[in-house]
Amino acid sequence: MSLRFIDLRSDTATRPTPEMREAMSRAEVGDDSSGEDPTVNALLEKVTDIFEKEAALFVPSGTQANQIAIKVYTQPGEEVIADVGCHPYRSELGAAALISGIQFSFVPALRGVYSRKEAEQALHPVSERSPRTAIIWVENTHNAGGGQVFPIEKLKELRALSLEQGIPLHIDGARIFNAFVASGVPPNQWAKECDSLNFCLSKGLGCPVGSILIGERDFIREARRRRKMLGGGWRQAGILAAAGLHALDNHISRLEEDHQNAQRFSELVSGIPGVRHVHETTPTNIVYLDVSETGQTASSINQRLQKNGVALSVPGETTLRAVTHIDISSQEIDRGAKALAEAVA
Ligand SMILES: Cc1ncc(COP(=O)(O)O)c(C=O)c1O
Repeated sequence: MSLRFIDLRSDTATRPTPEMREAMSRAEVGDDSSGEDPTVNALLEKVTDIFEKEAALFVPSGTQANQIAIKVYTQPGEEVIADVGCHPYRSELGAAALISGIQFSFVPALRGVYSRKEAEQALHPVSERSPRTAIIWVENTHNAGGGQVFPIEKLKELRALSLEQGIPLHIDGARIFNAFVASGVPPNQWAKECDSLNFCLSKGLGCPVGSILIGERDFIREARRRRKMLGGGWRQAGILAAAGLHALDNHISRLEEDHQNAQRFSELVSGIPGVRHVHETTPTNIVYLDVSETGQTASSINQRLQKNGVALSVPGETTLRAVTHIDISSQEIDRGAKALAEAVA
């Protein structure tokens, strides 16, 4: 029997389980572009209950959710306060500049975490010279920050600033359920500390497609218009929403396993000569490794790994990333770590 390929490139690599496929095949559908898909509507109702926010919108991707949020809150020439590692700046092809005409104002941050004081220093008072600050942006958990959870106390401080200044606070919570499972802070608490938030169904929750944008009714009304403008006004999306409903019922608490697997992987690879951890800890499901001391490039190591049935992603010339998810067992973590040791040697 051939062994399964161990795909640690991303938690987007997950495939729907047989039970999820079964739920998808039974979904009742309608035209979601007109708000008439009953399964999408059931998903949105469930999400608004979980997060205790007024309204939600089902969109094809995390990137689209981020871009819609930026578009709704900003006018061209305005600024978004964020850390330099945030997804819309780093990995969305400059879409925020193209679609919304905004610029980012970066705050110094460690693994994506910054304080109220740092945000205050990046804020621009309304004046004849400065661009207006239109959003305070938080990523939780932080992808480039090695799955770091944004501490709720720090978020509360940012929230106070956002309310005092009248600047909306948005959370890119692509992995907010990982943050919940790792910290114990429930989804409604994260949602209470922001105006709006998005999360991905298609990452650790194991769905094939889909993200959700959540906020107040007026925000979501405008977001729905922007979704249409960006080509996201999909039709019988209930088949995908059924996967989302299944995931919210069955795949949240199991994220703990992914975190344990990432921790195990971190420990197993830390003895490999020349391989160093980029971050000191592994709070959730993402591990970045610096291989510069091996004298090899990350892509050459990864090519050898792939010949042994394991793939990591290569975010930098000498950086590898492993992300654990529902399709990776603890035995596969052991195999993956062993394959990495062999590929480096
Ligand atoms: C933090 C974060 N935000 C947004 C996205 C974008 O999600 P998608 O790949 O669905 O566009 C990602 C994807 O990795 C992410 O890590």
